[in-house]
Amino acid sequence: MKVLVVGGGGREHAICWTLKKSSKVTELYCAPGNGGIAEIATCVPIKATDIDAMADYAKENNFDLVFVAPDDPLALGLVDKLEEKGVRAFGPRANAAIIEASKAFSKSLMKKYNIPTAKYETFDNKDDALKYLETQPMPIVIKADGLALGKGVIIAQTLEDAKAAVISMMEDKAFGSAGNTVVIEECMVGPELTLLAFADGNIAVPMISSRDHKRAYDNDEGLNTGGMGAVTPGADLSDEDMASIQNKIVKPTIEALKAEGRPFKGVIYFGLMLTKEGAKVVEYNARFGDPETQAILPLLETDFMDIIDACIDGTLADIEIKWKKKCSTVVVMASGGYPASYAKGYEITGIDTCGKLVFQAGTALTEDGKLVTSGGRVLVVYDEGDTLDEAIDGAYEGVKKISFKDAHYRTDIGRTVGKFGKEYHA
Ligand code: AMP
Ligand code: GLY
Repeated sequence: MKVLVVGGGGREHAICWTLKKSSKVTELYCAPGNGGIAEIATCVPIKATDIDAMADYAKENNFDLVFVAPDDPLALGLVDKLEEKGVRAFGPRANAAIIEASKAFSKSLMKKYNIPTAKYETFDNKDDALKYLETQPMPIVIKADGLALGKGVIIAQTLEDAKAAVISMMEDKAFGSAGNTVVIEECMVGPELTLLAFADGNIAVPMISSRDHKRAYDNDEGLNTGGMGAVTPGADLSDEDMASIQNKIVKPTIEALKAEGRPFKGVIYFGLMLTKEGAKVVEYNARFGDPETQAILPLLETDFMDIIDACIDGTLADIEIKWKKKCSTVVVMASGGYPASYAKGYEITGIDTCGKLVFQAGTALTEDGKLVTSGGRVLVVYDEGDTLDEAIDGAYEGVKKISFKDAHYRTDIGRTVGKFGKEYHA
């Protein structure tokens, strides 16, 4: 099969790497790709959000499958466009991808179908939002409705901060039109867990759980980022806990979307918080997570393309998805300054000799063939082991052998995960 992957981050590198192992994939392309992906796939310089050019390119070049990985092209309707042209595509259509693109939509879906989540109200009028805040306990969470690169969420400790957040989103347009509508919700407490699931429109089959580390610095300090590292499993949960998440959250969500005429095919991301009252949904995403994917996919034993085909054809119930019984860790190496401003163009050394699997994100090849930094999150180093500690130690061994100017990474990825099960009372 001739396959095109849309996107160009570390997640897409892991997706390409996993597709490359499939016996069914004979030709692999990625648009736009990055310096690491270029080693295993042909990179095509089309922006992921240029959905007309992407769909035309896929049609004209007779791709057998287009795998749409990032949120923006999904929300813009790239899958719909490909299907209109008769090109087979993996990912939800825009009317299902809305569970990520509109928090107001996803919150109302959860309310209607009794899916556990934080209590909330939605506002499209600033004064009403400010008045409502006066009546609420602090801390409180303010979210811009639309896509805001994971940055449109503010946890306000005081009424003053909460009001400032509403004004910056609704009046100053800090997140552009994403903040025309805001969701104000109760602040939940507990460890977070990522659960990704393959979905075929009718059912969803969870992958192994994982845990992201969103803050820039150790001990969960500093700004929110796209994610500074991930481990799997993401919590020490019993089979009973997982069954409860499946029955109260995963299954009802897929069934709700189907009932609403928005069948979800692709990968659905459940961002969960393990509260004292049980697991609750923090957010849905309509795609693989980054960097969770880089920690999860290397453990997949089943042919990835068999799963993709089953999602598209609605036959997930007929296949068995197998995982290596190992723990894994990825540590992100970022450009100093990320997620605020940072320099680019620094040479990266040590990837080939570090002895670990490395997925690249913000990297580019110069004309004379040097690998240089070109983004905030530059790469992740992966390792696996029989215990989480082994996987963590292995990933950090690799990190220490890779260098570029002003590299920044957290030193505590995964170190608190072992405690999770004990804190959680489902
Ligand atoms: P989101 O973009 O909705 O995933 O939010 C980003 C991060 O903000 C989450 O990963 C949580 O750490 C935090 N967060 C979002 N909503 C809540 C909430 N209701 N209570 C506590 N923390 C939250
Ligand atoms: N790692 C968080 C996300 O992909 O949204």
